[in-house]
This record gives sequence, C-alpha cells and structure tokens, in this order.
Amino acid sequence: MSVLTPKEIVEELDKYIIGQTEAKRKVAIALRNRWRRQQLPESLRDEVAPKNIIMIGPTGVGKTEIARRLSRMADAPFIKVEASKFTEVGYVGRDCESMIRELTEVAVSLVREEMRRKLMDKAQAAAEHRLLDLLLPPQPVRATRAFNPNDPEAGDEGPVAVSPEQAAENRTREILAAKLHKGELDDREVELDVRESPSMSTMQVFSNAGLEEMGVNLQEMLGRMMPQKTRRRKVAVAEARRMLADEELNALIDMDEVTKEAVRRTEDAGIVFLDEIDKIAGRGGRGSGPDVSREGVQRDILPIVEGSTVVTKYGPINTDHVLFIAAGAFHMTKVSDLIPELQGRFPIRVELTSLNSDDFARILREPKNSLVKQYQALLETEGVSVEIADDAVEALARICQQVNNETENIGARRLHTIMEYLLEDISFDAPERRGETLRIDAADVEKRLAGIVEKRDLGQYIL
Ligand SMILES: Nc1ncnc2c1ncn2[C@@H]1O[C@H](COP(=O)(O)OP(=O)(O)OP(=O)(O)O)[C@@H](O)[C@H]1O
Ligand SMILES: [Mg+2]
Repeated sequence: MSVLTPKEIVEELDKYIIGQTEAKRKVAIALRNRWRRQQLPESLRDEVAPKNIIMIGPTGVGKTEIARRLSRMADAPFIKVEASKFTEVGYVGRDCESMIRELTEVAVSLVREEMRRKLMDKAQAAAEHRLLDLLLPPQPVRATRAFNPNDPEAGDEGPVAVSPEQAAENRTREILAAKLHKGELDDREVELDVRESPSMSTMQVFSNAGLEEMGVNLQEMLGRMMPQKTRRRKVAVAEARRMLADEELNALIDMDEVTKEAVRRTEDAGIVFLDEIDKIAGRGGRGSGPDVSREGVQRDILPIVEGSTVVTKYGPINTDHVLFIAAGAFHMTKVSDLIPELQGRFPIRVELTSLNSDDFARILREPKNSLVKQYQALLETEGVSVEIADDAVEALARICQQVNNETENIGARRLHTIMEYLLEDISFDAPERRGETLRIDAADVEKRLAGIVEKRDLGQYIL
C-alpha cells in the first residue's frame, strides 16, 4: 500500500466500486500521506498529524465497500470496527481501547506472516534435511581412535578415506534428497514426534474478561505453563514436511523482533475504519436514554483519536499517528451532532452520492466480483450457463431505482434481492438443467418482476 500512488489506489478501488470518485480520491490521499510522513526527517515527522476522514452518504452506496477493499490492498495494519457496538448492552462506556488492541494484533500477524515468507526457504531446507534423516537415519560415524599423545598412531591417520559403504550411502542419500525435494516421496510414511498442544477446551473455563483490559492473555500464559506433551506418530512425508517446516519457522522467527516491528507499524501506519459512526452521534444532557451512552462512547473514543497511549499485551501503543476513517449514513443524525472535539478530529469530509439506475447497471456488470458474475459462476458449477442480455441488466437497474424510490432507498443492496428473485427458478432447477444455456432478456425481467413492482406493498417485502 505504501508504495501505491493515489492514482493507483483509486484505480484499484475502481475495479470494485462504481463512482464515488471524491471519496476514493480523499482516502487515497490520506493513505499516501502516511507514506510521505515516513519520508520526513524525524524532527518533522512527529509534527504531522494524520488527517482523519468522515465519509457521509446514504445507505448502500459503497462506504463499507471502500473500506473493505482498502483493507485487502493495505499492507498496513487495518481494522474495521462498528462504532455502534460500543453502545450495546455490556459494552457501554467500556473498552473502546480494544480497537487498538485488535489493530496491534493484526499488525503482529502481518509482520509474522512477512517474516514467515522471508524465512520459508530456509525453514523448508532445514525441514527437508530432518526428513531425510528420518527416511534414512545417518549411520553412526565410524569409530576412530581419538588423538592420544602416548599413542603415536592415534588420530594421525591423515585424510580419512571414505569407505565404499560410506560412499554408497552418500549416493543413496543424494538420490533420496533429490526425490524428496521433487515431492516424489510425499506418500511415504515417517515416524515423528508430534507436539500435542494442551487442550484448549479444558482451559476455556477461565474467562479472559477483565484481564484483556490489562493486556494479559490468560489462555496463552496457561498454555505456556502446561507441560508440552509429545507423542510419536506415523505421518505422510507431505504432512511431516509441513509440520517440520512449521517447527523450524517458529524457531527461526524472533518474536521480540516481530513485536517491536508490529508496535512500530501500528503506531506509524495503523488505520482504523470506524463504521456506523452516525449511530453514536447525539449529545447528552437530555436526560437518560441512549443519547447519554452515545455521548459516553464518543468521549471514550475521543482520547484514542486525539492520541493517547493504550496498553496492549505487546506493550504500550501511542495512537498519535493512527489514521481514522469514519463512515456513516447520517440519516437520523448529522455530523454536527457529534461532540465538537470529535468533529474537529475529522477535518476531511466527503459525501458519497446516492446511486441512480445507470450506476446500478454498471454495478451489475463491471466490478470484478459483480453480482451477475457471481451468479453466473455459481450456476456454472451445475453446468448451466446463464447469459444476461444488456437490456436485461438495464431493466434490472431501472427496477432497482424504482423500488428504491417508491419504498425505501437502500442503494445497491436492493440489487441482491432483485437478482435473487430473478434467478430463483433457475437456481432451483439448475441440477436438472445441466448443459443448458439460458438467455435472459428484458422481456424475461419484466415478466418476472413487473407484477411485483406494481403491487407496491408486496414490493416492500419481497424486493
Ligand atoms: N458504488 C458501488 N459500487 C459497487 N458496489 C456497490 C457500490 N455501492 C454499494 N455497492 C454494493 O452494495 C452493497 C452495500 O454497500 P456498502 O456495504 O458499501 O454500503 P454502505 O455505504 O456502507 O451502507 P450503510 O450506511 O448502510 O452501512 C455491497 O455489497 C456493495 O457490493
Ligand atoms: Mg456500511
């Protein structure tokens, strides 16, 4: 991610999200700014605060989708949290800091995965070496007389000549090593000491609640205290290779180094996507009720966004430079319903536009994972080819727009129910129609859907 230019980030997002250029651009700039900051001399680097963003827009227009795609692209620790979850019973006023702990956890996996990739070759080689020893236990080294000053002949044999047996064994080993490397021995079995992880079920009785806040992982601590049991087992070479490589990897990876890098990465490059922020908008002072807890949640989130230190089991994390991207529909509330301090922490605002029937047609057709492509692929597994004509896509888009206008505007989400309804019969009969190619045109769409759209009350429930 850090090396992608804003233009490249937008191009990548374009593959999945139609329109919303403004939002894509702003998000891309914010991400690129992280990289720019990294290039600054240290003295200046600390001065640059991230420019947090709020994405505002009606429901179903791509806010969460943008975040989801970003996270796939991101080389940076990235998490998505629903701000509304902090208002739920049992959460109120508690543990907003857990988002930073989660973010750190993501960073640790990210860095560990990087290390694994870097060390994989080395671990594989070591594993193969050990496998070879298992397949062909090395002969005990021929006993030679140890050097002894009183024995003029001992240890003074000059270069040891390789015995014929030894030479033969070396050759066998080489041949075996080559076969092993090519995977030709994968089906053979070897005996292996397998480490049994202490059963988690017995330890689940201890709850992590409370301790988690202190950054302590009880389960892990107990796990380390339990004696490691090993058991000798017969396994296929292919599996043994994986197990041994894993063991070697774990031995090679320096967890202290991983932790240090993960903490650095979280602090310098972490991104928190705060979804559904509109659900915590609203200020207190109006007596009891949900408003108070919403403001409470905002007050809890504020220090994290402003920059504070959160204790995690990997050490303290400073949130000064974590980037926050918030999103919300803001149907019932406005951005100005957020407490002023929080508003001030999100200087960049971008509005996502609601989608029209042209957009819906493009959403059905263009994205790499478009709904049409998904249904085609699903039915293809039954041997049924489905072609959806251009005029059919346009008819679907029009109906989507119409139902959105007349009932409730839920944006592109409506397309899911419409497509499902359109293809219901085909979906049901597909196994009996193997080998067929089905063409759906505008007339088919009208026939199937028009009646329902007409009966508006029904439309509300079905589409
Ligand atoms: N602009 C778009 N391009 C492509 N697909 C879209 C677009 N907008 C929405 N979708 C599709 O619609 C669905 C819902 O979109 P998304 O989850 O992004 O909504 P949202 O804007 O976060 O709404 P909410 O405010 O209700 O959370 C997704 O499955 C997504 O694939
Ligand atoms: Mg959403």
